[in-house]
Amino acid sequence: MKFLIKACISCSLSFFVVLISFVIGHTSVTGVCSNCHTMHNSQNGAAVAKDDSGSVTSTPHDALLIYSCLGCHTATSNTTWKDPFTKAPIILNTVGTNYGYNNEGLSAGNFYNVVSSDNTGHNVLAGNDDGTLGNTPPGGSALGTKIQCAGTAGCHGNRTESNQITDLKGAHHTVDTTIDGNTVGRSYRFLKGITGIEDDDWEQETATNHNWYKGAIGDSDPSTISYLCAECHGNFHSQSGIGTQSPWFRHPTDILLPQTGEYSVYDPASGYSVKAPVAWTDPASPTRATAVVMCLSCHRAHASPYFKMVRWDIKSGTLSTALSGCNVCHTSKN
Ligand code: HEC
Ligand code: HEC
Ligand code: HEC
Ligand code: HEC
Ligand code: HEC
Repeated sequence: MKFLIKACISCSLSFFVVLISFVIGHTSVTGVCSNCHTMHNSQNGAAVAKDDSGSVTSTPHDALLIYSCLGCHTATSNTTWKDPFTKAPIILNTVGTNYGYNNEGLSAGNFYNVVSSDNTGHNVLAGNDDGTLGNTPPGGSALGTKIQCAGTAGCHGNRTESNQITDLKGAHHTVDTTIDGNTVGRSYRFLKGITGIEDDDWEQETATNHNWYKGAIGDSDPSTISYLCAECHGNFHSQSGIGTQSPWFRHPTDILLPQTGEYSVYDPASGYSVKAPVAWTDPASPTRATAVVMCLSCHRAHASPYFKMVRWDIKSGTLSTALSGCNVCHTSKN
């Protein structure tokens, strides 16, 4: 009997382990639970949780986490693009970035840039407010509060809850081999509803190994990366805001990149430009004919070293540099 109970416990335990490893093996996060969670925020009587700056805090975090969003996704060196311990991709290097395209960090750019100059990115960091725009996205209506990573005032997650962890709940543990936009975990980069194909190292390398963004023709497809931006900057994406054909009112997005005239030179299907990338109506089978202009053709999503988080220095005193991204598509303008 004793043996049976023992066997049963061990069999259910190993079943549990198999179950967990099955789930973990196909998910985003890996490693032992205690890398990221603390059961009581206490070890030998001392607190375990850490605040944004990495100091131990007796205030526990939601979901028993050791760190906040920024705590996991921040590094203090300029070369770390993935945390060696939790394996979290880094979006804030507190001393700048020395990796990725043009040393600008991962695909979305790095919040380091918005610390010294608030017109170069989304001001998500505590104490770093946008002195000019406040909480109002140009082309849209004011957010009730300061912009944050996730939640009702953020980009990631369901965008329905003010608490960021509640808004994201389950995403980090979701099997995400299929990106269909149905849940946060199965959406492109935890942006609920958005699809696309994720580069496995967030474009830590460059042009040959990159993300494949989702685009569409028109303003109504809710799975495009430009639609994500339009959830706050609506006027810059809607057909009433941009027009439907040349002459346009605002720079168009979610339109096909024409195959003729000056546009015929840039073939992103064979020579993708990380400086001025495109989206695709079907990212799984990208062709020249289905390349689409998107917000991220010119902007990074988090921050860039340049004015208005553009992907190149549009204010450069050297004209060829200022035009360099425009010229990827507009090859006859100089
Ligand atoms: C690399 C970091 C990391 C590791 C390792 C990790 N977790 Fe998590 N876990 C998170 C994060 C981040 C969240 C909160 C955000 C979310 O749910 O996406 C979370 C949320 C959870 C939640 C609440 C959401 C849900 O899915 O129900 C549970 C339960 C959980 N983890 C259990 C575990 C267990 C059990 C282990 C070990 C087998 C583990 N975690 C290992 C990072 C981690
Ligand atoms: C949750 C709402 C929200 C979403 C989604 C959003 N933004 Fe913003 N954006 C804001 C707010 C608020 C500001 C003004 C405050 C700030 O810059 O922090 C802003 C400012 C900007 C600025 C000006 C930055 C500056 O410092 O002057 C640009 C450019 C921009 N957004 C581009 C984008 C792009 C591109 C996307 C999609 C990848 C996007 N935004 C998605 C809310 C949003
Ligand atoms: C305990 C550490 C931890 C915390 C806290 C945490 N993350 Fe993560 N996050 C990770 C790890 C690890 C990954 C990488 C998973 C992988 O390998 O794809 C990740 C990946 C991501 C990604 C990229 C997903 C993808 O598809 O590539 C996003 C976006 C993200 N986290 C946002 C957040 C937000 C927003 C919060 C706060 C609400 C948060 N994270 C809190 C550890 C954490
Ligand atoms: C990813 C490719 C791409 C990039 C990068 C790009 N454009 Fe465009 N642009 C287009 C396309 C496509 C159109 C629409 C062409 C059409 O309707 O025939 C367009 C339209 C325009 C128009 C309006 C033309 C009209 O007929 O109304 C102007 C002006 C313009 N772009 C300027 C710029 C400037 C300035 C930059 C750099 C800051 C830039 N573009 C970067 C692809 C691009
Ligand atoms: C063709 C390149 C290009 C595309 C595509 C593009 N932008 Fe911009 N955007 C710029 C440039 C350049 C600036 C800064 C100079 C200016 O405003 O003319 C800018 C400025 C902005 C600003 C700041 C406006 C302000 O009042 O300070 C926001 C917000 C913005 N863009 C959001 C978006 C969104 C959202 C999309 C997609 C729907 C988008 N952009 C598509 C090039 C582009």
